[in-house]
Amino acid sequence: MDPRLNPYAPGAGARPPELAGRDLLLERAAIALDRVRAGRAARGLMLYGLRGVGKTVLLNEIRLQAESRGIVSVSMEAPEQRSLPALLVPALRQALLRLSRLESFRTRALGILAAFSKALKVKYADVELNLDVAPVLGVADSGDLERDLTELLLEIGAAAKAGGTAFAMFIDELQYVREEQLGALIAALHQTSQTQTPVAIMGAGLPQLLGLAGRAKSYAERLFEFVEIDKLPPEDARLALCLPAEKAGVRFEDDAVAEVLAQTEGYPYFLQEWGKHCWDVARASPVTSADAETATERAIADLDASFFRVRFDRLTPQQKAYLRAMAELGGGPYRSGDVADRLGRDVTAVAPTRAALIAKGMVYSPGHGDIAFTVPLFDGFMRRSVTLPS
Ligand SMILES: Nc1ncnc2c1ncn2[C@@H]1O[C@H](COP(=O)(O)OP(=O)(O)OP(=O)(O)O)[C@@H](O)[C@H]1O
Ligand SMILES: [Mg+2]
Repeated sequence: MDPRLNPYAPGAGARPPELAGRDLLLERAAIALDRVRAGRAARGLMLYGLRGVGKTVLLNEIRLQAESRGIVSVSMEAPEQRSLPALLVPALRQALLRLSRLESFRTRALGILAAFSKALKVKYADVELNLDVAPVLGVADSGDLERDLTELLLEIGAAAKAGGTAFAMFIDELQYVREEQLGALIAALHQTSQTQTPVAIMGAGLPQLLGLAGRAKSYAERLFEFVEIDKLPPEDARLALCLPAEKAGVRFEDDAVAEVLAQTEGYPYFLQEWGKHCWDVARASPVTSADAETATERAIADLDASFFRVRFDRLTPQQKAYLRAMAELGGGPYRSGDVADRLGRDVTAVAPTRAALIAKGMVYSPGHGDIAFTVPLFDGFMRRSVTLPS
């Protein structure tokens, strides 16, 4: 069918034509943010889950809805190598500009931010200084991240409160933030929540975020609601696949749906890929099971050449060997000891490789001594793409 009309949206953070199965969560997020604005106790959401389950899309949607209700927000994505202060400064600057309507407030707020950046730059060299205003000294400029961030968020929160609104920070890929820096952010939020200051954080990240936040501050669980974002159950997966086509007058035969659900296991990103290929392959409605099987071949070839490949190419030879050994053992999760056995090595000898793979976000530990892929269906890719030395 006409590729110009193809409704599917495979891609990182790409808004799907049908956001299936997430209504309850969107409602929960909206309630939490409205409660924060009203000065009532509430927990921000921490969305965690594997690659491609729809965390970014959800975070964006929560933000969009919050903005439409008048909540002031900023959105950030933590990069792998930068410090949290470097990430926060430009975002908080943007927030302050929006929140301080009066010129005098604005000058003071930006002055505080300038002093904050200057003090933190000593320790975090990548913080960008933006000194178009004179630094205001005495608030948030001790150089201690936890203390300064707390004071700064209290200032911003006060500005939000004065404007009858709330300030919400949306931070994606939180697993890349270093433990002590995440700890400082959580501690700052702890202070704002204790003083009913209308500041909220909504975060998302890979499953390692759960352990990371808990280690950073033991009370993280009481401050945030950790919500696992997972593959869609069959009914929702069917809607995600069929509704966009239906809106364009195109139907899927039951066998075609079954093929796509079996291949994708209901993972949102894969549903978009398969939907897109089904559309392009089919000559007309309905999409048949033969179309779906051709779509499977094309989708897998595409994924192997891009989605899986870009992740694979970032790995060292030892890391590839470790993942290949995991894949040998099936779909996972795996015992670290079994993976080491496969490699013919001692667990402690391969522990640094395992740790590096966790830091890169390729694998995570679902439980003590266990290991699993953060990318769904990566085991199949490894078996297809890396032949073992015989
Ligand atoms: N509820 C949903 N229904 C249908 N498709 C969805 C849904 N959620 C996300 N998608 C689709 O899945 C893909 C991945 O979404 P997204 O980028 O938000 O995932 P992610 O969890 O942030 O992945 P990553 O960990 O790689 O950043 C996108 O193509 C998006 O359109
Ligand atoms: Mg994402």
